[in-house]
Amino acid sequence: MVQAAMTQAEYWNGEVGQRWARSQAVLDAVFAPLTEALFSGAALPPGAAILDVGCGAGATALIAARAAGAGGRVLAADLSAPLLSVARGRPVRAGDAPVAWIEADAETHAFGADAFDHAISRFGVMFFSDSHAAFANIRRALKPGGRLTFLCWRAMADNPWVTVPRAAVLPLVPDASPPDPDGPGPFRFADPEGLARLLEAAGFDAVACEPVARDLVLGRAQDGAARTAAEAAAAVVVGLGPVSRLLRDREPPVRQAALEAVTEALVPHARDGAVRLGAGCWLVSAAG
Ligand SMILES: C[S@@+](CC[C@H](N)C(=O)[O-])C[C@H]1O[C@@H](n2cnc3c(N)ncnc32)[C@H](O)[C@@H]1O
Repeated sequence: MVQAAMTQAEYWNGEVGQRWARSQAVLDAVFAPLTEALFSGAALPPGAAILDVGCGAGATALIAARAAGAGGRVLAADLSAPLLSVARGRPVRAGDAPVAWIEADAETHAFGADAFDHAISRFGVMFFSDSHAAFANIRRALKPGGRLTFLCWRAMADNPWVTVPRAAVLPLVPDASPPDPDGPGPFRFADPEGLARLLEAAGFDAVACEPVARDLVLGRAQDGAARTAAEAAAAVVVGLGPVSRLLRDREPPVRQAALEAVTEALVPHARDGAVRLGAGCWLVSAAG
């Protein structure tokens, strides 16, 4: 896998981080139903001190700031400069908690002991080089009684928004190596029992993994046409996420062929001018 050859800092500061940064608005719209599930599970109270781990372009830190209100605070950490640059440009609304954005590795950064009531993450915890070290570090940052709540992906098979376009792309990149199930990557925590063991070894208890299933709107068409919606959705899934990984470092003709193949595969999933496909996550909560 190409990703394994570089560090996560290089990966998220390079072309991938820049692509994610450019796509912040699209990503936040696509992930909105999952974000809602994260915050409904976290139930952040007013006045809370919140750590957003792998905050990316900042959407969840800003929602946390709204929940915590003026009496709270948010520290949003990520190791990607391009994503943090987008996040820093987003306004914090009057009456929300102040947000501090820091370029930091969650595995090693000294967040301060007993500093936070709650740590949250939307898909920011599956890419650590040393997951045990990172979760132990996050736990140290929590006050006694503090909580961790995050979203991670269930197995690829539970995510048609990945498997449908992936099946269309694979014939074009037959040499693509399969993802390493234990290495940094989106599906690394698909096994909830292994994840619970990992979190317990890092010092958490009362670990719960609740399945969350939502349809994601991957693309819409102004004209209501299935093909236009499929084209919009194909641009999203080929540009970001697990399918885009298959196409990294591929020549433009391969990428173009992939876009066309994915568009064809998505047309049958368009209804009422939108392509919707299922996503499956774990909503993970634990006590620090
Ligand atoms: C899939 S993105 C999710 C970003 C954001 N949470 C969102 O939902 O849009 C994963 C994020 O985790 C960050 N990340 C990966 N390893 C990290 C680490 N060790 N410490 C801090 N952030 C990390 C990446 O830079 C990237 O922004």
